[in-house]
Amino acid sequence: MVVAEDDKIIKKRDKMEKEKITVEPARKLNQLPPYLFGAIDVLKKEAYRKKLDVIDLGMGNPDMPTPGHIVERLCDTVKNHPKTHRYPQAKGMPKFRKTVADWYSKRCDVSINPENEALALIGSKEGIAHICMAYLNDSDVALVTNPCYPVHRNGIILAGGVPYDMPINENNNYIPVLEDIPKEVADKAKLMFINYPNNPTTAVVESGFFRKVIEFAKSHNILVCHDYAYSDITYDGYSAPSFMQTEGAKDVGIEFHSLSKTYNMAGWRVGFCVGGKEFLKPLEKIKSYLDYGVFTALQLSAVKALNGPQKCVSKTVREYRRRQNKLVEGLNKVGWDASLPAATMYLWLPLPGKFKDMGSLEFAELLIEETGIAVAPGIGFGSYGEGFVRMATVTHFQRFHDALLRLKEFIRKGPPK
Ligand SMILES: Cc1ncc(COP(=O)(O)O)c(C=O)c1O
Repeated sequence: MVVAEDDKIIKKRDKMEKEKITVEPARKLNQLPPYLFGAIDVLKKEAYRKKLDVIDLGMGNPDMPTPGHIVERLCDTVKNHPKTHRYPQAKGMPKFRKTVADWYSKRCDVSINPENEALALIGSKEGIAHICMAYLNDSDVALVTNPCYPVHRNGIILAGGVPYDMPINENNNYIPVLEDIPKEVADKAKLMFINYPNNPTTAVVESGFFRKVIEFAKSHNILVCHDYAYSDITYDGYSAPSFMQTEGAKDVGIEFHSLSKTYNMAGWRVGFCVGGKEFLKPLEKIKSYLDYGVFTALQLSAVKALNGPQKCVSKTVREYRRRQNKLVEGLNKVGWDASLPAATMYLWLPLPGKFKDMGSLEFAELLIEETGIAVAPGIGFGSYGEGFVRMATVTHFQRFHDALLRLKEFIRKGPPK
């Protein structure tokens, strides 16, 4: 009886499958590398299935909660101000843009005109992807570091553009050597993505590098897009310069910024972009055709975050440092070379000696299978990230003790023969 019932279901499904049409997705999608965190997720799910106690140091997803005063602002606004439930002002409400301008004035001593030099974003990732669509025609060249935060490269590909790699590695302190870019490539390039403090490598720069970038951009007519997502996750007195602080920056570029890391608001989806008004216009235009901007209640919460007490930021930074201290000290003890970064909540680590011959993805797979520890393989950020993994210190301090015990055994054992 049950079998007959099953047969019926299978036949019906087969019939439905046959009646379906097939439509090829855009070819661009095939050019994208596998989504980095998709691969990690598969590994994690498999580990959960095996009932492993997973310690997730993979995605840069802040684990600490959004500070209470920001949460309260959101709850109060949603509850008591129903006007905020309507469509928002797509480019950002005046109060939001003014707050962004004030933040730049206070934090970076930079003057931003809130009217036309600031734009609200549904997280900076959204703006980064859309700036590519706003500027790139099919086959246009855009310069991007390798390794990079994946959407810098994938945004170019999705817009039909062609990424040109600027390798960053230990030899150049993870800062692109602009002189190495062939003149004919630089002359063709329309956009350049840079990101300091850098994800995934944790590298930082001083403003001298930005001066060089501006000179380069002027001589080759390139729009510079600086990603400043980790502006405030910095340590030991290092203060990360804004690209906008450098003279001439607005003549050649824009800067993307995010509340995700500074205020642990990754899930809220709110960020912004500032810079030369003529560069923001096409981004605003493309967004106006595609989205309605950031929920007004979120914009008001972001205002609260940027204008409110900043002790919460130092608390977050202190906690990341505490975790990094524990992890770096422990890693060195178990025979894995590690050093403290000047910024970000990551560690960028060369594969431990015994595992040097493995690929970073193979290593990350082995690591999660044997220890339940998830890390991001360097290759996921670009070919020049091979040989490294990124650890995000986004789990509770207590977990690192356990992680180090597991790593000690893993490294002692070495790779499978
Ligand atoms: C360099 C960099 N830029 C942008 C983002 C995304 O920020 P948002 O949450 O504002 O989209 C991230 C997130 O990890 C990042 O590492």
